[in-house]
Amino acid sequence: HPLALGIHDLAIATGHHVLDLDDLAAANGVDPAKYHVGIGQDAFSVPAPDEDIVTMGAAAAKQVIDRHGVDGIRTVLFATESGVDQSKAAGVYVHGLLGLPRNVRVVELKQACYGGTAAVQMALGIIARDPSERVLVIAADVARYDVETAAEPTQGAGAVAMLIAADPDLIELEPQSGLFTADVDDFWRPNDRSTALVDGRLSVTAYVDSFIGAWDDLASRGGPGIEAIDRFVHHQPFTKMAIKAHRKLAQHVGVPFEETELAIGFTYNRQTGNTYTASLWIALGALLDLDDDLAGARIGMFSYGSGSVGELMTGVVRPEYQQHRRTGRVHELLAARVPLSVEVYRELHAAGAATSEDVERPRVTTAPFRFAGVSGGARHYE
Ligand code: CAA
Repeated sequence: HPLALGIHDLAIATGHHVLDLDDLAAANGVDPAKYHVGIGQDAFSVPAPDEDIVTMGAAAAKQVIDRHGVDGIRTVLFATESGVDQSKAAGVYVHGLLGLPRNVRVVELKQACYGGTAAVQMALGIIARDPSERVLVIAADVARYDVETAAEPTQGAGAVAMLIAADPDLIELEPQSGLFTADVDDFWRPNDRSTALVDGRLSVTAYVDSFIGAWDDLASRGGPGIEAIDRFVHHQPFTKMAIKAHRKLAQHVGVPFEETELAIGFTYNRQTGNTYTASLWIALGALLDLDDDLAGARIGMFSYGSGSVGELMTGVVRPEYQQHRRTGRVHELLAARVPLSVEVYRELHAAGAATSEDVERPRVTTAPFRFAGVSGGARHYE
């Protein structure tokens, strides 16, 4: 047997605050069922003024480093759509905050929500070459759209850190995957904007087309048939998106579709909102934490980054994974968030645009790391 390569650990972090979508529905004069049922979301995380992708990414990565130490880690890959600097990789700040060794390479990856999957693929390449290495992958995002738009309820914030290693505890990632790239203007963020521009309708069809295209590519490369995949998790800009895509796949391959098949993977994302690069991996975390025994089950994982790049990977859950799952921890994290009124959320939203002006941030978050502010144009964390 070739050596198994895959996800050895997976940890989740999110923002300090939460906005209940019932409150947003009331403020926007929308039936709350549109949000809960129509798009399949209940709430979204909002970062405190002293939080960003670095603090959330570091909080997730700290859990992984606390459990496994730094041995073998020579690469840190940080994936994000919502980068804090056009030049310096966010992972370099995380490297400093966590006190990682000097003999490490660090780089940031971008392709909308797909970047985390690109990081996982790069990590697999590195450990295939030298299985004694382990790669720290961090995916963190703050999903920001303009307020009072159709996209407003699909915002969110969160991070995932994964240790990619040989002989993994959680899930072996299989070598074949299905790929699909199409140059489409469905969602993008020009360099002078801190909120994304989106063609909502186009983005939904582009996502579905990408999923089917990636499926066909996987099939043409001898990938497993639908009957050999026990569970699916998806990138979830809003959880209803996974249902739309999956319904189309069921039609495409001619099998019946039950919406409930996907529900466990929705559990955390319904509460965090869209976390762009982290979204798929948060869904995987929910499945591993909350589903019945998945030992030996094959999971299909679909990643979509607008613009657009899609990838469908498969992985097989490791026999002893239950000893390493963290059931309960994420529920505690989500329950600990401090609720915001719509008024205060909108104030934070307006103040949330990136700036190079000198500024001090108030001390709000109770997370392990905080964004202290900007001086001399540079960001400072503690
Ligand atoms: N009760 C129950 N359901 C209701 C309802 C009610 N009272 N009122 C409306 N609905 C349903 C609608 O019927 C509709 O369902 P279907 O999609 O099944 O037809 C659903 O609620 C949404 O309603 P609309 O289509 O009217 O929604 P909208 O136009 O206001 O906005 C959206 C939806 C386009 C997704 C918007 O939220 C948006 O632009 N979001 C951001 C873009 C996005 O997330 N795109 C996803 C693919 S791109 C991607 O994946 C990358 C990424 O992360 C961004």
